[in-house]
Amino acid sequence: MTTAQAIETTKRYARSVQASKRVRWDIDADVIRERKLDPAYKFLPDGLSLVDELPFLTKDEKRSMSQVQGRTYANLFGLVERFINAKVLEVSRDHWFGDQTALEALVRFSDEELKHQELFRRVEQLAAEAMPLGYQLMAEPNAVAAVVLGKSTWAVLALTCHIEIFTLVHYRKSIEADAGLSELWKDVFLHHWREESQHVLLDELEWRREDAKLSASERDAAVGDFIELVGAVDGILQVQARADAAYFIAIAGRTFSEAQREAIAAAVLKAYRWQYIVSGVQEGRFLGLLTELITPAQAERITGALAPLLS
Ligand SMILES: [Fe+2]
Ligand SMILES: [Fe+2]
Repeated sequence: MTTAQAIETTKRYARSVQASKRVRWDIDADVIRERKLDPAYKFLPDGLSLVDELPFLTKDEKRSMSQVQGRTYANLFGLVERFINAKVLEVSRDHWFGDQTALEALVRFSDEELKHQELFRRVEQLAAEAMPLGYQLMAEPNAVAAVVLGKSTWAVLALTCHIEIFTLVHYRKSIEADAGLSELWKDVFLHHWREESQHVLLDELEWRREDAKLSASERDAAVGDFIELVGAVDGILQVQARADAAYFIAIAGRTFSEAQREAIAAAVLKAYRWQYIVSGVQEGRFLGLLTELITPAQAERITGALAPLLS
């Protein structure tokens, strides 16, 4: 890195620290404010829940579907933040005796992810109060973290960058504009989005820094790790989609035909793949950086692995 590039990099970390200080919020004082989740409103917007793909559902059932998926949406963020935070703390080691602004930026990143996990645990408690019994989050955060953190840092940072970019995209494109959502649920993701905006900048910086350390063969192996991670995410989604479809059917209070039950399960899985895999991969910001770091042959490997999930 040239001196000019190093100065520019430090400036980026500094901007992230300043923005983090400016937007910082408190779970109770700024977000929850003694409110409850009101089951009269939707949680997840239609553009993410894809609820319109189930035309046989009544208006009330569509709202219930949005709440089931919105509950999982908050829980899965809390889940991925466990491994994201551990990886951020790990890569911060490189800055301990180096750029202290970079270190501060990553310490704030970690502190925010710890707070977000607490926020999402609170959202789960509020969702449990507002919704019937029987919901279950199937994956366990530490078990997922053990699998993810067993892969190369390059691949974990790629997955993290992907997740944090789609967080921003979902808020801006779908959540912000939907007037039919629970005010509290929407506020949770407004505040989350504000802090995640800095995380994306830091993901990009750290991913590039890690990339510069790798040989061509190490990077090629890391691409394989990234493909395996996306596959692991899909495994989590398949299990959760089955559980959430069953929960939705159980609380609907009416009988669905076999074909309708299958359509519900398929639509929930499609929605989860859209939310956690496809909408992020399709986003220009992520693809732009990814294709800059990998070869066309590696890009083809990734596209080939993703193809079955896009159908
Ligand atoms: Fe977060
Ligand atoms: Fe984050």
